[in-house]
Amino acid sequence: MKIMKAVFPVAGMGTRFLPATKASPKEMLPLVDKPLIQYVVEEAVESGITEIIMVTGRNKNAIEDHFDRSVELELLLESKNDSTRLEMIRKISDMCDFSYIRQKEPKGLGHAIARARNLVDDQPFAVLLGDDIIHSVNKPVIGQLGQIADKMESTVLAVERVPEDKVSSYGIIESEQVEQRLSRVKSMVEKPSVDQAPSNLAIIGRYILTPEIFDYIDKTEPDANGEIQLTSALNMMLADSKIYGYEFEGKRYDAGDKLGFLKATVECALRNPELGPSFRNYLSGIKL
Ligand code: UTP
Repeated sequence: MKIMKAVFPVAGMGTRFLPATKASPKEMLPLVDKPLIQYVVEEAVESGITEIIMVTGRNKNAIEDHFDRSVELELLLESKNDSTRLEMIRKISDMCDFSYIRQKEPKGLGHAIARARNLVDDQPFAVLLGDDIIHSVNKPVIGQLGQIADKMESTVLAVERVPEDKVSSYGIIESEQVEQRLSRVKSMVEKPSVDQAPSNLAIIGRYILTPEIFDYIDKTEPDANGEIQLTSALNMMLADSKIYGYEFEGKRYDAGDKLGFLKATVECALRNPELGPSFRNYLSGIKL
């Protein structure tokens, strides 16, 4: 069950980041010097993914341009003999194959994933959300999930324990633990109130899905907001298939949220070998 294809749903409106996202995609917001989406593409490529299918919407052209060649820029860097930067920007477009399909209206994550059906074909595939940036020391998170999916021959969701006051922002699983870090999912509930949440294990934006999911998405009714939720389709699928939740190794930042984005920026800068020491110095001396 080698996972070669990944779907990146990037058609959301990014309303939490307005006005920055009025005309530019939130996926292009930079952490230090790289757009969010590039971190996630690199995670996929490091995990052996060779084909990325982006589900885009209006105002998202900058994403496609970022992963394309930029001939003028390459010529300019060549004329300046700036081989370091030249290599850096060429690598971005050479990382893997990209294809793009539009979700004409943002009708939910399930709906976005279904747009990729013909491009995914009949193989298990990965889904990565650009909002979740995960720093891992050893294996990238989607690679960790791929290994589990291979072993269990099933759908695997990345899960993480979240504080109680945050459960209402996530899909939450009810599950039984089968191994260290690994739980078999019994049910899922989207954004429950604290008293209705079956646990504090939240679904994070990394998934390995089997192609059957598309049939369940087709059968899923839109919710009160008119969105087709992936969680509802997965819940339906549970009647026929096993689904596992894996507590991944790595530190996650919710970069789709302002505070999460700031934390990711600060910690990414602190980890940066060139910036880190002077930035740490600066932080320790801040007076407001
Ligand atoms: P979110 O709801 O977190 O992102 O969707 P959003 O809608 O862009 O942001 P806010 O909540 O308005 O600030 C999770 C992921 O699913 C994608 C988003 O792009 C994001 O990566 N998504 C969501 C779609 O591709 N299409 C949709 O219809 C909804």
